[in-house]
Amino acid sequence: MEFLAQPGGSLRGRVRVPGDKSISHRSIMLGAIADGVTTVDGFLEGEDALSTLKAFQAMGVQIEGPENGRVVIHGVGRDGLQAPKGELYVGNSGTSMRLLAGLLAGQAFDVTMTGDVSLSKRPMERVAVPLREMGAVVETGEGGRPPLTLRGGQKLKGIDYVLPMASAQVKSCVLLAGIYAEGETRTTEPAPTRDHSERMLRGFGYDVAVDGAVASLSGGGRLSAQHIDVPADISSAAFFMVAASITPAADITLEHVGINPTRIGVINILREMGANLEVLNEREVGGEPVADIRVQYAPLKGIEIPEDQVPLAIDEFPVLFVAAACAEGTTILRGAEELRVKESDRIQVMADGLATLGIKAEPTPDGIIIEGGQMGGGVIDSHHDHRIAMSFSVASLRANADIRILECDNVATSFPNFVSLSNGLGMNIKVMENV
Ligand code: S3P
Repeated sequence: MEFLAQPGGSLRGRVRVPGDKSISHRSIMLGAIADGVTTVDGFLEGEDALSTLKAFQAMGVQIEGPENGRVVIHGVGRDGLQAPKGELYVGNSGTSMRLLAGLLAGQAFDVTMTGDVSLSKRPMERVAVPLREMGAVVETGEGGRPPLTLRGGQKLKGIDYVLPMASAQVKSCVLLAGIYAEGETRTTEPAPTRDHSERMLRGFGYDVAVDGAVASLSGGGRLSAQHIDVPADISSAAFFMVAASITPAADITLEHVGINPTRIGVINILREMGANLEVLNEREVGGEPVADIRVQYAPLKGIEIPEDQVPLAIDEFPVLFVAAACAEGTTILRGAEELRVKESDRIQVMADGLATLGIKAEPTPDGIIIEGGQMGGGVIDSHHDHRIAMSFSVASLRANADIRILECDNVATSFPNFVSLSNGLGMNIKVMENV
């Protein structure tokens, strides 16, 4: 599937983007191993979260939905999962593979997980290393990449793990394995990363202590079913935050967006660039802060992105680079080498795409330097990366010719109705089906 994004679009109106991907994954995982029936509203009906849902169905968990965002999970209890009949295929979803690795390391059965072309290139030793330290038997494929196999029947012990990189997936993997380990499991992170696992475990009645960079829990506890309200995904909302910021006369309101402090780097960075964002009607829903966000056009300026914001905006950089291309002056990003191991090498792929549109974008080992300027049109290879495809769709708002974007199928992994919501707000994106 390709997108043809045409200039001349506007942005006005109110919209609720789909549910948070990270929270949707975790709702299935924890609901499945809880005692009792967990209900979820606002679940992301995107392919990634569905990969997690199907994995648990394959392990004998009865799950109804999703239907209009509602999922009902009949928890099987901490030791109730059954061996799947074959390999677990988790598609494009790194979160599924890495978090499941932790949750499955202490089961009685063997499991092998596989993924699509993009996931098959991503590093898995980052979860295998701490799991082995806990006593798990973990095999990775060539170069430490998928497939990932966990040998069942191992006795796990708690560890004190200092993460070598800021990664919520690695932190969550270790904590989930810790539920099945003897004694205490502790993680220390080099910088704050999303804390949805810690929050949700507490919501399920599982004690997690957090003290600064350290999170810890004791093995052997049980989880009790709960109701989960999933807020709209700030990572999806980010496309419209940038879209409205760069489009003269734009005025939109994004409803019910999750504004967990570990996720709001995009708001902080855009504000520093001069964007006009108002956070309205702040409230708390099921342990997560939520707000409506009004965004109006404002001229942006280039900045040096503060390094402490990097983990808090890690998924939003592709679209922030588009904001930088529309800003006056130079934007410099450092300390973001993790972007090179996402669904694509997001530093290189964005630098190449922006260069195609006539923007000076110089990749560096751990970041990028972008000079704002006038964007033209061109053909962009998204490398099957959903966030690259959506970012260049947003770029069309300020380009002076059409942008054709290749390989857009994976937009459905995180934001299945992206095109219809975008066009509803006034953008011009056409979907071209390849035959
Ligand atoms: C996620 C953590 C982040 C993020 C990903 C979702 C999660 O990955 O990029 O989209 O749900 O825990 P890393 O842990 O690799 O930074």
